[in-house]
Order: sequence, then structure tokens, then C-alpha cells
Amino acid sequence: MDMLRGETMTASAPCDAARYDGMSIALHWVTALLVITQFLLAEFWGFFPRPTTHLMVVTHMSLGLILTGIYALRLVWRGTAGRQLPPAGLGVLDRVAKATHQALYALLGAELVLGFATRWTHNQALSFFGLLIPSPFGHISRQTGWLVGQAHDIVAWSIIVLAGCHAAAALLHHYVLKDGVLRRILPLG
Ligand code: HEM
Ligand code: HEM
Repeated sequence: MDMLRGETMTASAPCDAARYDGMSIALHWVTALLVITQFLLAEFWGFFPRPTTHLMVVTHMSLGLILTGIYALRLVWRGTAGRQLPPAGLGVLDRVAKATHQALYALLGAELVLGFATRWTHNQALSFFGLLIPSPFGHISRQTGWLVGQAHDIVAWSIIVLAGCHAAAALLHHYVLKDGVLRRILPLG
């Protein structure tokens, strides 16, 4: 039964074989944490005085750059050594789950690109904890900058709504179906 890619099931590690590998688990939860932090920073920086808002925007950009690195590493890991598990065995729902995961990857990738583009189309340098990364583009019109910012906002909301459904499905697996799907990605099993 060779359902795992990246690693094969061995008789000496039957329990490990039913779970994602440590690196995949770490990358999943760091991504989830960073995405939620990014969203909360952006939704709440408007409520603070100017210096705090500025600090929150710089933190958002800096974490965004870290998230970009994590995302790239995750794609490489998934495509090479990362363990992949068979679907839960729920027929059409397996296909829905797979499509959701693919959509999350696609939306995340788009959001990262739009994040860089938002800053640069506002004709400002990106800041990574104070280290400035200037725009590779020339002057961009205010209208274009606004459109890119709107796209970044819409994709952010799409990710949060889809990830919310994804998390709800994981909890349904755990508490209703009791099939161990959530446990296989939990850090402590
Ligand atoms: C999944 C990751 C991310 C999420 C969920 C997210 C979310 C958001 C949201 C909701 C806004 C507010 C948009 C508005 O109200 O018009 C925003 C603004 C912004 N984001 Fe992101 N973002 C992410 C990644 C990034 C990345 C990777 C960068 C750049 C490296 C970035 C740079 C910016 C900038 C420059 C702004 C505008 C800040 C300002 O108003 O001065 N974001 N982001
Ligand atoms: C912003 C937050 C999140 C994002 C972007 C996200 C994204 C993803 C993606 C893309 C996968 C597919 C992994 C792969 O096959 O390569 C995945 C798997 C998984 N996620 Fe999340 N996730 C998030 C939050 C959560 C939360 C909060 C939970 C639990 C409550 C959760 C539970 C799971 C489970 C159980 C799997 C494995 C599903 C399976 O093996 O069929 N995720 N997640």
C-alpha cells in the first residue's frame, strides 16, 4: 500500500507513517499563524495613533517577507521530501478538500505578490525591519496603486474565509467523524 509520496511507509515507524512529517507540520502551523497575524495587523492598525500604525505596517511588511520565504520553502519541501497522505476516504468530499488546499496555496501565492505590489505601486520602498527594498518599477499612478491595494484586500478576505471553512472541516473530522485527520497534522499528534 504505497500511498505516501516523498517517503515510504516502513514497518519500524507505523505510527509516524499516519502523520505528516515534522517539517510539513511546522510549516503548516507557522503559515497559519503568520497569515492570521498579517490579517489582524492590517484590520486593526487603523485604530491606533500614527507612530503605532507605522510600526504595525512595517511589522506587516517584514512578516510578509518572512511568510514569502516560508511559502517558497513549503512548496519545495512538499514537492521533494515532504510526506503526503492519502485522502480521508469520503468520496466527493475528498475532492472538495483537495480543491480547497490548492485554492489556499494559489490565494496565498497571489497575496504575497500583491503585498509587494501594494507597497511598490504606492511608490514606496518595502521595509524589512527598517532595511529598505526599493521598488523595481518607475512611478505608478495613484489609480493603479489603489486597484492593487484593493486586490490585496479582497484576496486577504478570501483566504480568511476559505481558511475558516478549512479549519471548521478539520474540527468536524476531529469531533464528529473522529477519523484522525486533524491529529495527523497536530504537532503532538
Ligand atoms: C497572507 C498574507 C497577507 C495578508 C492576509 C495581508 C492582509 C492585508 C490587508 C487586509 C491589508 C489592508 C488592505 C486595505 O485595507 O486596503 C493589507 C495592506 C498591506 N499589505 Fe498585506 N497582507 C499579507 C501579506 C503581505 C505581504 C507579503 C506584503 C509585502 C511584503 C504586504 C504588504 C502590505 C502593504 C504595503 C499594505 C498597505 C499598507 C498601508 O496601508 O500603508 N502584505 N494587507
Ligand atoms: C490561515 C490558516 C491556514 C491555512 C492557510 C492552511 C492551509 C492548509 C493547506 C494548504 C493544507 C494542505 C497541505 C498539503 O497537502 O500540502 C492544509 C492541511 C491541513 N490543515 Fe490547514 N491551514 C490553515 C489553518 C488550519 C487550522 C486552523 C486547522 C485546524 C483547526 C487546519 C487543519 C488542517 C489539516 C487537518 C490538514 C490536513 C488535511 C489532510 O491531510 O487531508 N488548518 N492546511
